Amino acid sequence: MVSNRNFYNKLAVGAPAPEKELENNLERVIHFFPPHIKNVIDKLPEITKESDVILGNLEDGISPKDKIKARESLAKIGQQLDLSGTGLWTRVNSIDSPWFLDDISYLIENLGNKLDVIMLPMINDENEILFADRYIALNEAKFNLTKQIKIHVILETAEGVMNVEKLARSSPRLHGFSLGPADLAASRGMKTIRVGGGHPDYGVHGDRDINNKNRKFYQQDLWHYSLSKMIDACAANGIKPFFGPFGDFDDPEGCESQFRNSFILGCSGAWSLHPSQITIAKRVFSPSKEEVEKAVKIIEAMGDGTGAVKFDGKMQDDATVKQSMVLIDLAKKIKEKDPEIGEEYKV
Ligand code: GLV
Ligand code: MG
Repeated sequence: MVSNRNFYNKLAVGAPAPEKELENNLERVIHFFPPHIKNVIDKLPEITKESDVILGNLEDGISPKDKIKARESLAKIGQQLDLSGTGLWTRVNSIDSPWFLDDISYLIENLGNKLDVIMLPMINDENEILFADRYIALNEAKFNLTKQIKIHVILETAEGVMNVEKLARSSPRLHGFSLGPADLAASRGMKTIRVGGGHPDYGVHGDRDINNKNRKFYQQDLWHYSLSKMIDACAANGIKPFFGPFGDFDDPEGCESQFRNSFILGCSGAWSLHPSQITIAKRVFSPSKEEVEKAVKIIEAMGDGTGAVKFDGKMQDDATVKQSMVLIDLAKKIKEKDPEIGEEYKV
């Protein structure tokens, strides 16, 4: 790990310099697509208008026989697609796979700065991030990029979760982290074969009633611990946390509550694996009109923002001003970038 003084040094001669501030993009939903499938490609212009980010997936879900076709097709799609404000990301194959080197170099050569973020799966320790960081920098220099392509890490191994604090401060190229519940479950030996969401047998019993009957069972959130740990690591280092996939497309309610828990806990967005999940994520990761209204009223009631007042029967002080500003800043960003949802906000 480099000392603080050298943290912002370029990792290759001629590469673009790391930026100190992360761009304040609206990224409520990262929509995954397999780049080599014709009817998916045909729908992309419409999906691109809907989604905050589209991501060409090259890793799991793309069979080895299609890996190169998917990579080449993604480059063509990226060159031709009118993105107008929608982010273009990719998830490359893992750093130990036979595809990693060419995934990176081919996409940087062919997409240049049209590619915003490279998602790295199966990251365990910071040396792996630094290896990818250097290799991306070398390619940026070789192909004359003017701006750094960011790295987004999937937190999906037990070792990655153990090291998350070190990972989050490893490089100024980092954009953020996503929790990958499927690989994480396997890595930890969890006994669930679902992709995200709950498990009907994971929960606690309430007490028996007075007749020793009617004992209720409450299902619990499998991901709370890892998600919270990841969110703290991200927030402490100025990068963004996301929930990953929710695999059951036929359970929009389950998807909504998984996404909402992560929104409330501090995540900026989540993945979508099916177009129906884009709508869910955009709704969930935009605060409700009522919450924003309440936040605005708290700010008004607090005057210069210091001291304490009673509003709506509840105590407000300097800290609730800061809490309110989280919602107001997000509402302002949504109003600017997504007027369809944002027109509701009076900010
Ligand atoms: C995502 O990649 C996951 O493993 O959940
Ligand atoms: Mg995975």
